[in-house]
Amino acid sequence: MRVLAVSLLAFGAAYAQYSSSSSHPCPGYTTSNVLTIRNGFTADLTLSGSPCNVYGNDINDLVLTVTVEENNKVNVLIEDAAMKQYQIPQSVVSLNRNSSLHSFADLSFKYTDHPTAGFGFQVIRNDTILFDTIGHPIVFEDQYLELTSNLPKDANIYGIGEGPDTFRRDVNDTIKTLWNRDAANPYKQNTYGSHTVYMENRAGKFHGAYLHNSHGMDIVLANETIQYRVLGGVLDMHFFGGPSAYDVINSYTDLVGRPLPIPAATLGFQNCRYGYKSIDEVDQVIANYSAANIPLEYMWIDIDYMDRTRDFTFDPVNFPLPRIQQTLANLHSKKQKMVMMVDPAIQRNSTYGPYVRGVESNAFVKNADGSVYVGQVWPGYTAFPDWFATNATSYWHNELSMFYEQVPLDGLWIDMNEAASFCTGSCGSGVAEDVVPKFPWTVTPAVPPRIPNVNNTYLVPKYSIHNPQTEISEKSIETIAVHANGVIEYHVHNLYGHMMAKNTRAFLNDLRPNVRPFLLGRSTFAGSGSYVSHWNGDNNSDWDELYFSISSMLDFGIFGIPLVGSDICGFFSNTTEQLCNRWIEVGAFYPFSRVHNGIDSIPQELYRWDSVAESARRALGVRYALLPYYYTKASYSTINGSPIARPLIFEFPADTNVLDNDSQFMIGEAIMISPVLFENDTSVEAYIPNSLWYDWYDHSVVVGAGKNATLDAPLNHVNVHIRGGNVVPTQTPQMSVEDTLAGDYTLIVALDSNFAATGTLYLDDGVTYNSTHSIIKFYSDGKTLVANGTYSHPVTNVVEKIIVLANGDYTGNKYVNPNNTNELILDNLSLCLTESWNINLF
Ligand code: GLC
Repeated sequence: MRVLAVSLLAFGAAYAQYSSSSSHPCPGYTTSNVLTIRNGFTADLTLSGSPCNVYGNDINDLVLTVTVEENNKVNVLIEDAAMKQYQIPQSVVSLNRNSSLHSFADLSFKYTDHPTAGFGFQVIRNDTILFDTIGHPIVFEDQYLELTSNLPKDANIYGIGEGPDTFRRDVNDTIKTLWNRDAANPYKQNTYGSHTVYMENRAGKFHGAYLHNSHGMDIVLANETIQYRVLGGVLDMHFFGGPSAYDVINSYTDLVGRPLPIPAATLGFQNCRYGYKSIDEVDQVIANYSAANIPLEYMWIDIDYMDRTRDFTFDPVNFPLPRIQQTLANLHSKKQKMVMMVDPAIQRNSTYGPYVRGVESNAFVKNADGSVYVGQVWPGYTAFPDWFATNATSYWHNELSMFYEQVPLDGLWIDMNEAASFCTGSCGSGVAEDVVPKFPWTVTPAVPPRIPNVNNTYLVPKYSIHNPQTEISEKSIETIAVHANGVIEYHVHNLYGHMMAKNTRAFLNDLRPNVRPFLLGRSTFAGSGSYVSHWNGDNNSDWDELYFSISSMLDFGIFGIPLVGSDICGFFSNTTEQLCNRWIEVGAFYPFSRVHNGIDSIPQELYRWDSVAESARRALGVRYALLPYYYTKASYSTINGSPIARPLIFEFPADTNVLDNDSQFMIGEAIMISPVLFENDTSVEAYIPNSLWYDWYDHSVVVGAGKNATLDAPLNHVNVHIRGGNVVPTQTPQMSVEDTLAGDYTLIVALDSNFAATGTLYLDDGVTYNSTHSIIKFYSDGKTLVANGTYSHPVTNVVEKIIVLANGDYTGNKYVNPNNTNELILDNLSLCLTESWNINLF
């Protein structure tokens, strides 16, 4: 056996014999012509035996390129030598292949030609083999790729989605299918977005891997392996050495794109429903929130505002434009904001401007014969913008710009962009152009799946990914529809939502060049975090979905889309008072906190029940007090990708008790939320990691011993703990984000068992891209508190109060207040946030 290696580390360990676990007779590949290049090498890979043609045609000649960047990232790229396989263009996802990140962990790469399985490789961190394909033949066919790596028994794998699942994946029996789909949150199935990135916690250290490929695929976790089964393209694998979870996400988002800077206001509470009957009803909802003293930052309007559910139109009777403009102006006068929805599907109707202009500019997806591809969405028969078309960007910008001239919104919501369609195939192609659906239009029953055309492997690929639909074209644009660059939908299906997001954000950036846009999107891909924020789609109003909303949120932290949350109180079916109550106690802490409801469900605005309103005021009160902390976390996510909401295992990576904890979560490193997730519970069995903690409300000390504790959780109470060792900036909650952030600060100095704490406050204007900013670091040794950092943002608000929390009385009773809650309060202060200072705490 030949062993070759590229590594900046010494290597030379002998290989054990590996046996192949593949069930097909594929021969694998043999390496030759090894050439050294900057940071790595290239080699030819040639099929080692007869083609197996298991689900396509084996490609004989491949090229391997391995690069090791900064010792921290390894890229293993296996392409067909003829370069005929589809690869994601840089213009769609711009991969930063030449990282300038400093090294975190030392990775090395080894490869060999195994006697029976051919070329295989290992990615190694120090002495630990992180990814190991040796003994598993690589299959590289035109419509099927297979790559298999060994995993340790009971490996701790996180990521790969989108779809509701336990946060730690079941490695004994999981098939993650990546095929974007308009599906209402089915457990363990594929839904709206495609993210192949995963991370593994191995003995307390994290590493990660990302396959850059847009094709439909299954990623199978079973038999102590991870196996990629991909419907085309190339194997472009990227490995990240960690060793912390944040290092992995830093490397990953450095590669695919950093999360976008968000307007600070988007951290405020938001309300939506599908089914508001008129703008008067919308106005009433806004007024009711204020009357109930629940801060409403953004009011959303779903497709209800549209005339016959057509994009860029206004229902003349129930949502007349002047009334919408009035509502928007009223919102603005109270520092509130409005978002409306736009779908990609454009009604196919020769009297409808957006359709006519789309045809004129050649901007729609086509059938193979060149005619416009016609599916079915809310407004009836529809065409779909083809984001690869030369004129698609100018077409879309023009439509949006006319729309924005009428309603200068504070944000856009792009939905149904998988792209969803209610029929299979170009179902409207045979219907006369001028057939205008009557309003209210009901969707004709979905056309039953066609008898699969087995001769067309792009309609019915030989390898059937575990997409639950009968055929992969069902409920979307069919896979043989043609894009302007000649590429069929089969190859780029998973990119549709991403490209819509990219185009829409580009419009918003052009419109107001220095204002950070707010864009929420349903379908996402790797790198979409640079363009959109995300909600987890159509969930159901039930307790299970409340539970899984936490792992869905945490997944998107890995995917580089940190401003994320689920529909609070649930979308489909009727919520209940108790469920809505508990849901806002969780949802108040989602980075993106929005109530949203389905058209057929009972109303669920938070003021509908007194008990829910009370919980909302309390939980959102905590959220708003923490806004400067949330905003600091959101700002750091744009710098290093770090998620706002985090699983306990990211913060306590060596604590095996939290490997699969997905019922609690943290905001940043300092705040732990332990919510009620089960009906009728009035206490929580919460895990308290080994650390000092302080109850948010009464500041009592909880000494975490790495054990479960029963925490009281009556209906209006959500358990929130501050972790010792942190300085947490807080402000007094007001009815708007702007007013809250304009107030003076209270710093909570939560000392650890060594009586020390550190923290950060990020300040900028929260609105513009080129705002000045300050990054202020706080340090305390229990006796003093020091603030210093970089100051360029002018602010007049000050630190008015400092609350020091400690476990123990090392200062001679100073930390013991009359309620015996171990706190020292310094108030009536006026410590500025424009230069360094240092204050004695006692
Ligand atoms: C989709 C969206 C949902 C929206 C509805 C109507 O189901 O996921 O949020 O309310 O369409 O536009």
